[in-house]
Amino acid sequence: MNTIINNIAIEKAKTSKINEVDFDNLKFGHVFSDHMLECNYKGGKWQTPVVKPYQPIVLDPAAKIFHYGQSVFEGMKAYKDVDEKVWLFRPLENFKRLNISSKRLAIPELPESYFMDGLKTLLEVDKDWIPKKAGSSLYIRPFIFASGNGFHASPADEYKFIICTAPSGAYFAGEVRVLIEEKYSRSANGGVGFAKAGGNYAGQFYPTQLAIEKGYQQVIWTDDNTHEYIEEAGAMNIFVRINDTLVTGPTSDRILDGITRKSIIELAKSENIPVEVRKITVSEVVEAAKNGSLKEMFGAGTAAVISPISGFGYKNEDYELPKFDDTYASYLKKRITDIQTNKAADPFGWRYEV
Ligand code: PLP
Ligand code: COI
Repeated sequence: MNTIINNIAIEKAKTSKINEVDFDNLKFGHVFSDHMLECNYKGGKWQTPVVKPYQPIVLDPAAKIFHYGQSVFEGMKAYKDVDEKVWLFRPLENFKRLNISSKRLAIPELPESYFMDGLKTLLEVDKDWIPKKAGSSLYIRPFIFASGNGFHASPADEYKFIICTAPSGAYFAGEVRVLIEEKYSRSANGGVGFAKAGGNYAGQFYPTQLAIEKGYQQVIWTDDNTHEYIEEAGAMNIFVRINDTLVTGPTSDRILDGITRKSIIELAKSENIPVEVRKITVSEVVEAAKNGSLKEMFGAGTAAVISPISGFGYKNEDYELPKFDDTYASYLKKRITDIQTNKAADPFGWRYEV
């Protein structure tokens, strides 16, 4: 039966796949919930979104997404607490960043109500898909791409905004070792590195495959100009702890302004953990690993949450990080996930009830 919530029409799936899902053994982004949100841009205007059964999308072979890669996306999570209340984490930051990314890719910006009401309606319809198990959540993937066709290399006249969700466990299955990149670049000044553009990820796959063949899970990108500065990893921002100080690089044209990153900076400051936002050179990290002052390295992102890095490779040498219990990574991960899942007070106002 069709219903309407938040002015959004809902076409319910005839059957649910939920009983086929093993919620105790969830991988990341592997199974998809019963419904999706779809909103089309045509005639110079975003049309009212609809929620419908999760299904394939039919596209013209000349759709510009295939030829010119005009696409942007976001990554968010929904959490369910012990009382079955549903929470998002700083969703307006994702909305704003989606439009920042869209603007850079010449994609028309989306109205806030379409994003927020669409998301809330979708979560209401698929709330049974939000895992309750610690460490699991409903990963949310809003994305926009050029569905309008034409071989002329110019922006499309039609787009689709879609939100799909996937009940998910941890992004990394085991330990995370990273390779500090010396040759390839993820982004450059004036480019699209700060945008969550699909092409940024495609461009990383080949160098990351080479790193995986050598036993690493992620590449740590360095600046394209000199390869002397640590920028970010393929799916997360990077923090290092030198003695007691937590350090992360500044965001720029080339680096994604991660919501987890900025939350960790605020959280750490509020807990009197010394934090520095400054350029980090590869040579200081290598030197600190050699003299023992490099205590921790971790990645931060929605999918990755806070992922400790156990070692890194650079110029054919491997460096190990010390192993100890009371790390900043484990402390901050607990603090942030407790706020996200409504297990602790949220003095920052980050949590958003759906
Ligand atoms: N950097 C890159 C390249 C990413 O893909 C992500 C993931 O979204 C992040 C950083 C972390 O950003 P956020 O914390 O907003 O998820
Ligand atoms: C996220 O953390 O939400 C991301 O978008 C990273 C992605 C590569 C899984």
